[in-house]
Amino acid sequence: MRPKIIKDVLISERAIQKKTQELGRKISKDYRGKELVIVAIMRGAMLFLADLVRHISVPAAIDFMFVTSYKKASKSSGAIRIIKDLKEDIEDKYVLIVEDIVDTGLTFSYLKKYLKAHNPKGIKICTLLDKPSRRLVRVKPNYVGFTIPDEFVVGYGLDYLELYRNLPYIATLTDKAKGRLKGNF
Ligand code: IMP
Ligand code: MG
Repeated sequence: MRPKIIKDVLISERAIQKKTQELGRKISKDYRGKELVIVAIMRGAMLFLADLVRHISVPAAIDFMFVTSYKKASKSSGAIRIIKDLKEDIEDKYVLIVEDIVDTGLTFSYLKKYLKAHNPKGIKICTLLDKPSRRLVRVKPNYVGFTIPDEFVVGYGLDYLELYRNLPYIATLTDKAKGRLKGNF
């Protein structure tokens, strides 16, 4: 049964599985012969990462970063805080950031600068979702699962007030549920 806060399923479990396979194959081709470090941005990327890496056939180290953004306080300040940093040494390696969604682009642009300072050979990003209409900074993800309209979504790693990350699909919220988000997003 679907939770009451859900309006519609925007992207089905099946569509996500098909897409992760497609992306994994493409990434495997592009990174053949390169030393790859996958950096998953938690907590949103947890489900996507787990499915994606099963379709990546080249050797890859997997690392995690936990970050939070202060969107509530000021929409455009985009202060990002690192809660947990990298463990792996990425110098001279190819970094692939794995994200749940690129929205304003502030997180991605911050991470790119931050990781660049560790001198990797390259930095790219693979995001399950892209919401280009909400950009505050000009960034373009290298691998995109689905481009979606300006609508708050939940499930498959993405949360609504810290809940529903475990839904196997991506869904939109009812107006009532959206109302409770005000000031939190
Ligand atoms: P950005 O810095 O604005 O690109 O935001 C990226 C982060 O905002 C994501 O990693 C999510 O945690 C969160 N976010 C953006 N849009 C949504 C959404 O529609 N649902 C849930 N979380 C979102
Ligand atoms: Mg996130």
